[in-house]
Amino acid sequence: MQQRIDINDYFSPDTFKRIKDLADTKETPFVVIDKATVSEHFDDLVRGFPIAKIYYAVKANPADELIALLNDKGSNFDIASIYELDKVMKHGVGPERISFGNTIKKSKDIRYFYDKGIRLFATDSEADLRNIAKAAPGSNVYVRILTEGSQTADWPLSRKFGCQTDMAMDLLVMARDLGLTPYGISFHVGSQQRDIGVWDAAIGKAKVIFERLKEEDGITLKMINMGGGFPANYVTKANSLTTYAEEITRFLEEDFGDEMPEIILEPGRSLVANAGILVSEVVLISKKSHTAMNRWIFTDVGKFSGLIETMDECIKYPIYVEKTGELEEAVIAGPTCDSADIMYENYLYGLPLNLAIGDRMYWISTGAYTTSYSAVEFNGFPPLKDYYV
Ligand SMILES: Cc1ncc(COP(=O)(O)O)c(C=O)c1O
Repeated sequence: MQQRIDINDYFSPDTFKRIKDLADTKETPFVVIDKATVSEHFDDLVRGFPIAKIYYAVKANPADELIALLNDKGSNFDIASIYELDKVMKHGVGPERISFGNTIKKSKDIRYFYDKGIRLFATDSEADLRNIAKAAPGSNVYVRILTEGSQTADWPLSRKFGCQTDMAMDLLVMARDLGLTPYGISFHVGSQQRDIGVWDAAIGKAKVIFERLKEEDGITLKMINMGGGFPANYVTKANSLTTYAEEITRFLEEDFGDEMPEIILEPGRSLVANAGILVSEVVLISKKSHTAMNRWIFTDVGKFSGLIETMDECIKYPIYVEKTGELEEAVIAGPTCDSADIMYENYLYGLPLNLAIGDRMYWISTGAYTTSYSAVEFNGFPPLKDYYV
């Protein structure tokens, strides 16, 4: 059973107070994001990876407040759609700071990016590459490769994106033949990746591609985009970003030595997750029979209003409540009329026996992939609100 969490493990007293003071004035459910924390995480990443250019993965949290903050700090942006593009460019971000990182895109959307001046595109298939050659002639393309790591990532991304090494090389040769610039390789080792060794294997694959293309086809690639995957702190704590940075830099140096290519990172979760607290309220507490051991705790936020990453109980958010009485296991579920709207049923959280209807639940590390995933009107509930301090 998950024991009571210590809020000090996640926030300094000052930061928690800043968030709580705002939260106390608002009606649930909502998420509060602490901008100073995002700023610190960005600085940590820059310090940890001085050789890398950071492209914030906007999908993690596309709030204007965060785009403005990261724009001011000189971040670049990894964009998934024309809508994210418009949003980011509205902040004055120039096209040279944008990458179209989605391998699944319409030809007319590629053209839209091209017309806005973007010249950096991801791909992993021949059909998409041909579309890029037509709609964005002469652009830089990088090919996403498949990576291992789905066993050790809490939110795996493999399978759907990327291609095998052989195909990646063929695509890069084809890119050249189609008048594009074969620019580099990308991978994403899976989000919330707990095994640092997975980066070693992926960098090794990239190295093989760099060498073979040079020897066999006279193509000199310039860049490796290592995607995201750096973890946030949930119930299971992760290694520090410094440890990740040191290890991954060592892997890069072992493979590339003095011939280090341009390195791109696309962090989402690791920049914003820990900066957020989602605040909900208990709607109902019930049992399914007179003799049932477990309580069901229904709250006013669920899978369809920001907590989709509890699907298969992948992401286990630390949950904090103010009451401190004796703990008892509980199933935690959302407010909608959909039986999929259960967040935790197998992994049982210990919540105080005296927890009552109306009490607040504080879902820690919810700054990433919550507001952006929230449904617009399921069961009539509005999208998750967000506030920024
Ligand atoms: C292409 C790409 N880059 C970066 C990210 C961000 O990954 P993370 O949130 O694990 O940092 C994602 C996440 O889906 C992605 O698809």
